[in-house]
Amino acid sequence: MRLKNKVAIITGAANGIGLSIATAFVQEGAIVLLADIDEEKVIYEAKSLAINGAITLGIKCDVGDTIAVKNLIQIAISQFGKIDILVNNAAVAIGGNIIEMPETDWDKLMNINLKSVYRTIKETLPFMLKQKSGSVINISSTQAFRSWNNWTAYAGAKGAMLAMTNQLAGQFGKDNVRFNSISPGAISTPMNAKRAELEGTAFLEKSAAQHAMNRLGTPMEVAMTAVFLASEESGFVTGEDIKVDGGLCTLPRYTE
Ligand SMILES: NC(=O)c1ccc[n+]([C@@H]2O[C@H](COP(=O)([O-])OP(=O)(O)OC[C@H]3O[C@@H](n4cnc5c(N)ncnc54)[C@H](O)[C@@H]3O)[C@@H](O)[C@H]2O)c1
Repeated sequence: MRLKNKVAIITGAANGIGLSIATAFVQEGAIVLLADIDEEKVIYEAKSLAINGAITLGIKCDVGDTIAVKNLIQIAISQFGKIDILVNNAAVAIGGNIIEMPETDWDKLMNINLKSVYRTIKETLPFMLKQKSGSVINISSTQAFRSWNNWTAYAGAKGAMLAMTNQLAGQFGKDNVRFNSISPGAISTPMNAKRAELEGTAFLEKSAAQHAMNRLGTPMEVAMTAVFLASEESGFVTGEDIKVDGGLCTLPRYTE
């Protein structure tokens, strides 16, 4: 019970990595608000996690919408009186060659993947500062470190998340509010399943081969790192990025 009685908000919690983080947090005793644009699924998943007496709440929230984010934070405070942990996980995977990518796609991605982080932190931080504690975990990506063709917007947003994490960690460390990030390699989630549908399954095999461990990661492997960053075990860790990438970033190395 490493997160007993901690109140956590996780965005994009209806599927994939966000859902595994919610599951792991509940297992560790946290009160978890699962937020997602998919109302039906997030309410279903929150209810499923609430068996055995756990306290969860599924809330429809489009992180691309300022009013919706304000509403989410207000619900957390009015229901539970505090926010100990914020996980910025919601994102969309929109690829595209920078020459051909429509500006509307660029703006959509930046709004959901990056400006959302500004929105959630802006609304949550005043409460964390008041209570003199908090852990913010931003889910970035190894794409912030490595080059893949046609993912400039996605990688740009993820790189900016790392810079924001560092900046905020430096400014608010004295207030005992910690900011860290996780950069996953390729993980088996609906996001990658969707890409496999569009690009073919060969992409998943090629992707696995790039990792030193020659496989994709599981969402729970990312979630357990989030548990560490959310818990007191990481009480002196801030401004850090932890790669959960099966050695992807050990490249360059020889591959067939
Ligand atoms: N899967 C990977 O290989 C991988 C690798 C590196 C980083 N990541 C990052 O991990 C995080 C989770 O990825 P995933 O693979 O679990 O994705 P996923 O697509 O499986 O799940 C994302 C969730 O976010 C929700 N969502 C989408 N737009 C939203 C919005 N506007 N508001 C609220 N919720 C919204 C979706 O409904 C979904 O439940 C993302 O930040 C992603 O960029 C994933």
